[in-house]
Amino acid sequence: ALISMRQMLDHAAEYGYGIPAFNVNNLEQMRAIMEAADKTDSPVILQASAGARKYAGAPFLRHLILAAIEEFPHIPVAMHQDHGTSPAICQRSIQLGFSSVMMDGSLGQDGKTPADYDYNVDVTRRTVEMAHACGVSVEGELGCLGSLETGMAGEEDGIGAEGKLDMEQLLTQPEEAADFVKATHVDALAIAIGTSHGAYKFTRPPTGDTLSIQRIKEIHARIPDTHLVMHGSSSVPKEWLDVINQYGGDIPETYGVPVSEIVEGIKHGVRKVNIDTDLRLASTGAVRRFLAQNPSEFDPRKFLKETIGAMRDLCIDRYEAFGTAGNA
Ligand code: G3H
Ligand code: 13P
Ligand code: NA
Ligand code: ZN
Repeated sequence: ALISMRQMLDHAAEYGYGIPAFNVNNLEQMRAIMEAADKTDSPVILQASAGARKYAGAPFLRHLILAAIEEFPHIPVAMHQDHGTSPAICQRSIQLGFSSVMMDGSLGQDGKTPADYDYNVDVTRRTVEMAHACGVSVEGELGCLGSLETGMAGEEDGIGAEGKLDMEQLLTQPEEAADFVKATHVDALAIAIGTSHGAYKFTRPPTGDTLSIQRIKEIHARIPDTHLVMHGSSSVPKEWLDVINQYGGDIPETYGVPVSEIVEGIKHGVRKVNIDTDLRLASTGAVRRFLAQNPSEFDPRKFLKETIGAMRDLCIDRYEAFGTAGNA
């Protein structure tokens, strides 16, 4: 059944677990996520980016999500717009039937230029007024995702600031977060703690200097009733990097957010954990391996089935590690 994200996150807070929010673009990702949720009895957050809408087309994306709800009626599903860059985009998602939207006012309407605080408050507050009138939840973001080592937002083609960010923007300030939540009434708040989108988050395994779980604790202590969201939370599994590189890929050494660090965040108010890159890596690894090992195969269902299995196993791992399992 389609439910609001607020309802889901309130339950997660009451029982002390986190919910992975997986990005969806196609049928295979959708099946993998839903089969994993079904197997582990987990509630599901399906999120669609502007890029996903461009790839699949809004009607296909919407009906894929509706199909997931129809096939798995016993699983609670929140249908979430990821990184909306204006109130108008969020309004369009609400019209399409989404039960939750992210108004990302940390960057301007181009999704690349760091915005000032007053702009962020204004667009987020206006989105909340409109969304809440429709029973739809809102996630806001304060601070800019980016590496504490380099000040860069990461992924070139994805969502993120262009150019170098300063330290002030890279770590969300607890006092400002309290003010922001009070001014906007958001249901959930995405915070900056040193993570970034894509596969190239850290050049070596993160430490407290490059990934600040400490900052999550400080923000949670200041606003204990606000559901916190971690973006850029893929773990970039070494096993999948190895498979990709073994079968013709070329991905340089890189590190993501260890699952154990996310679990620590969940102990301190993190309720939604955004994951996209890990599913992309598992999927690419599965395709490369299958085609290399079965060079005469040409039925796409054969290698796409491999991607479903690889992504499903990864989703099962996250549902179990985050304590989501058993809470559907
Ligand atoms: O926020 C970033 C997500 O990974 C979505 O990426 O814009 O390439 O769909 P995308
Ligand atoms: P990853 O690139 O780490 O998977 O992050 C995804 C994300 O934050 C989507 O909003
Ligand atoms: Na989001
Ligand atoms: Zn994100």
